[in-house]
Amino acid sequence: MACVAAGFLLAGAATEPSAIAAKKRNKGSVKKEAFGKTKDGKAVEAYTLVNKNGLKARIITYGAMLTEMHVPDKDGLLGDVVLGHDNLENYLDGHPYFGVTTGRVANRIAKGKFILDGKEYTLALNNDPNHLHGGTEGIDKKVWSARVSRSKAGPAVAFSYTSPDGEEGYPGRLKMKVTYTLTDDDELQIEYLATTDKATPVNLTNHAYWNLAGKGTILDHVLQINADHYTPVDATGIPTGEILKVDDVMSFIKPTAIGARIDKITGEPGGYDHNYCLNKKESGKLSLAARVEESTSGRVLEIFTTEPGIQLYTGNFLDGTEVGKGGQKYEFRNALCLEAQHFPDSINHPQFPNTVLRQKQKYTQTTIHKFSVR
Ligand code: BGC
Repeated sequence: MACVAAGFLLAGAATEPSAIAAKKRNKGSVKKEAFGKTKDGKAVEAYTLVNKNGLKARIITYGAMLTEMHVPDKDGLLGDVVLGHDNLENYLDGHPYFGVTTGRVANRIAKGKFILDGKEYTLALNNDPNHLHGGTEGIDKKVWSARVSRSKAGPAVAFSYTSPDGEEGYPGRLKMKVTYTLTDDDELQIEYLATTDKATPVNLTNHAYWNLAGKGTILDHVLQINADHYTPVDATGIPTGEILKVDDVMSFIKPTAIGARIDKITGEPGGYDHNYCLNKKESGKLSLAARVEESTSGRVLEIFTTEPGIQLYTGNFLDGTEVGKGGQKYEFRNALCLEAQHFPDSINHPQFPNTVLRQKQKYTQTTIHKFSVR
């Protein structure tokens, strides 16, 4: 087990149960471990970040994926608040994007088609009849390179992957870097950077499945989303192009239990799976997008982002067939995703904020997940 200290003290035994004890012992650490091999023999590594308060995030190089996030409850006991698997094999067998970095374009592109600068592009239809989360082998299924990076804010690791021109049908050689920092203010900060040699659509996000209680349904989690508008979708999950005011069912302006009105969203399988258009004073600036609170653990998650939108997905496709960490069965609505992003299918809706990245431009995004208790 190799250990990369990178200016931080080693975590030693600073795991469960007391985050407070850990606080006294260390200033944070980064630990690198082997995490198996892909079917074509590529080595995958896991990086464990521990901050000075004992919070712990684990990210693996396969998919630059957040596999564990341990945060304290109101009694100081650490618990893992993201869904995922214990080993690489289970991820390789297929999974619903647990914790991955999603792209090159997150969410759906209608019928896998778009026209850019007069040329039509065709992408894989991996979510019939649409293209979803970057295609059959999106960036969530690639092995990224990793580098421990120095940050005063806390332990950090930067993941890089260059997607070749034409990969999954997308134009341009897209260089991406995603940096995870676990700050001493108990924030998991994710910073994205991308450049291209040809115009191409880019929309990156993280697809963590949150459950602040660590188990059970999320219907009692109380959610607030700072959005007066959302983008309605058709039966296949593609935005109609309208930007509508949230009504009684869609509104999370006031903190509301997720389960309070979820059954009013019918369909197959029903439930929230929508992009919210965030209220922002200034576009591209970091602002509070969403807040989630779970009363039994007392855990609170706040999400700040520079992105214009956030996808609320309430685990509607989970059905108990996915058996995750510690043998836990992930049942219907056992987690929620809050994916900071540009609006889905923006490339086909010129009225939505632009997702086209051109040569010499930089795609940047910062999204912060702040953990606390009340
Ligand atoms: C989408 C869902 C999809 C899920 C896949 C979400 O981002 O909005 O429709 O089923 O990802 O896990």
